[in-house]
Formats: sequence, C-alpha cells, structure tokens
Amino acid sequence: MTKAVITGAGQGLGRAISNRLKRDGWSIIAVDKNEETLARTAEETGGHAIVCDVSDHASVVAMGEEVAALGDIGALVNNAGIWRYSGVLGITPEDGRDVLVTNLMGTIWCTQAVIPAMQGGGAIVNFSSVASLMSASSVGIYPASKAAIETVTRMTALEFGSAGIRANTVAPGMIVTESTEANYQGEMRDIRASMIPMRRVGEPEDIADVVSFLVSNDSRYVSGQLIAVDGAMSAGQIGTAPIASGPGKVG
Ligand SMILES: NC(=O)c1ccc[n+]([C@@H]2O[C@H](COP(=O)([O-])OP(=O)(O)OC[C@H]3O[C@@H](n4cnc5c(N)ncnc54)[C@H](O)[C@@H]3O)[C@@H](O)[C@H]2O)c1
Repeated sequence: MTKAVITGAGQGLGRAISNRLKRDGWSIIAVDKNEETLARTAEETGGHAIVCDVSDHASVVAMGEEVAALGDIGALVNNAGIWRYSGVLGITPEDGRDVLVTNLMGTIWCTQAVIPAMQGGGAIVNFSSVASLMSASSVGIYPASKAAIETVTRMTALEFGSAGIRANTVAPGMIVTESTEANYQGEMRDIRASMIPMRRVGEPEDIADVVSFLVSNDSRYVSGQLIAVDGAMSAGQIGTAPIASGPGKVG
C-alpha cells in the first residue's frame, strides 16, 4: 500500500484528509504535536502515528528518519498550521515567529525531511488560505506566511518535477473545524455564509476531497498550482451596486 504522510492529522482538516486518503487506499502516517488527538486519527485510519512539532527542526528531522524507515512514501500533505490575528502594529515578536516558523518553516522542513523517502516520485500538497488571496485588515502575519508557502510550492514543483514529484497548494476558504467552530455559532454562520458566493461555509470533507485528487494519479500532470477551495469566495466581490445604463454599456 502506498504511504501518505499528513501533518496536523490530529483534528480538523488533517483528520478528514487522513480518513479520506485511507478510504482511497493509502497507508496513513499521521503526524501531529498533540499525542492524544494523533492517537485517535491513527486508530481511525489504522495508520502509523509520529509525534512531531513541525516548528522544531530537530523534531522534524527525527520524523523524517522514522518516515524513511517505513519505506517508500507517495504523498506528503503539509497541513499543520496556526494563526494569530492582530493589526499590523499588534504583531508581537512571539506571534510573528510562531506563525512563520510553524506555517512556513514547518512546510519547508517537512518537505526536506520527506522528499528523500519519495523514491518512486510523489505528490506534495501544501496549505495556504483564502486569507492570502483576499487582502483583509487585522489578520496578523498569517496571510504573509501562507503567501510564502505558495512560492515554496512553485519552487518545489520546479526543482523536483524531473524526479516525478509534484507539488500543489490548496487554499481553503471558511471551513468549520474544531478550532474555527466558535466563529460559526448561531447567526454568525448565516452571516459568514452570506459572504460566500456559494452561500455556505465549508466542511473538512470539501478540502479532503480535493487533496484526494491532488495526490492521486488523476492529477498526474498538475504541479506548481494553487487551488482555492472556498465556494468562489476569492473569485471576486458579490453584491456590488448595479451598473447604470448609458454609453459604453454593452447589451
Ligand atoms: N479551517 C479553516 O477555515 C482554514 C482556512 C484556511 C486555511 N486553513 C489551513 O488549513 C490547515 C488546517 O486547519 P484546521 O482548521 O484543520 O486547523 P486545526 O487547528 O483544527 O488543526 C491543526 C492541527 O495541526 C496541529 N498542529 C498545530 N501546530 C503544530 C505543530 N507545530 N506541529 C505539529 N502539529 C501541529 C494541531 O495539533 C492540530 O491537530 C492550517 O494550515 C490552516 O492554516 C484552515
């Protein structure tokens, strides 16, 4: 069975991705810093659990050694990520460092750790966010960390294409997970849904299904790309004022 490494597998999107890839026939190597939730995902998927903090280089190196000992790896999903919101002036040294190191360096270090085990080629899926595609105020350094991940994806695709390794980025929109569900209680869910062209917030399975495609042979000629999975949220603005008729108006 081909092996897939999923970071941040303990809950939320990582857990849904692990379960989806298991159903697709992958052997799951679940990675998370939270031992308890990691054990749950490993049990659900019959997979292998590796406790690893992706923001700690030594921890990621040890994870890579354990992964290499398990044999040939076919997929790496760099899903682990954190966010801390504030205005520009509120980005503290701690928040800036934690978010950048976890999201950006975590993605880079896990890629470095796992690529040597992709002997027969493979697929890497990195995680951005709609926050990187739509500018917003008071979102801290998070969107910058995600924009940087998008460039890392393209660089990875360029450098490893000849080795049969593909790399793509998924940018989720507003998805209800354990860590975001407080934002979707009661009427807040309807308000947020009204901001999305498809008029609903996303479920983890909306993301897991796209990751399933990106690590499958069906996407064998897709690499270096960014796919927003956001109900068209990043496609533009909805509810703009009607355009008055007159010279220059077509139709
Ligand atoms: N949920 C959304 O609406 C949304 C939107 C856009 C992007 N994303 C991105 O999707 C990814 C997953 O989001 P989620 O909502 O499932 O998050 P979540 O907080 O529910 O789950 C994240 C998982 O990653 C693990 N993790 C965090 N830091 C880690 C570290 N240093 N080392 C190892 N594991 C670590 C956590 O323990 C947790 O299990 C993140 O990269 C996030 O930025 C989520």
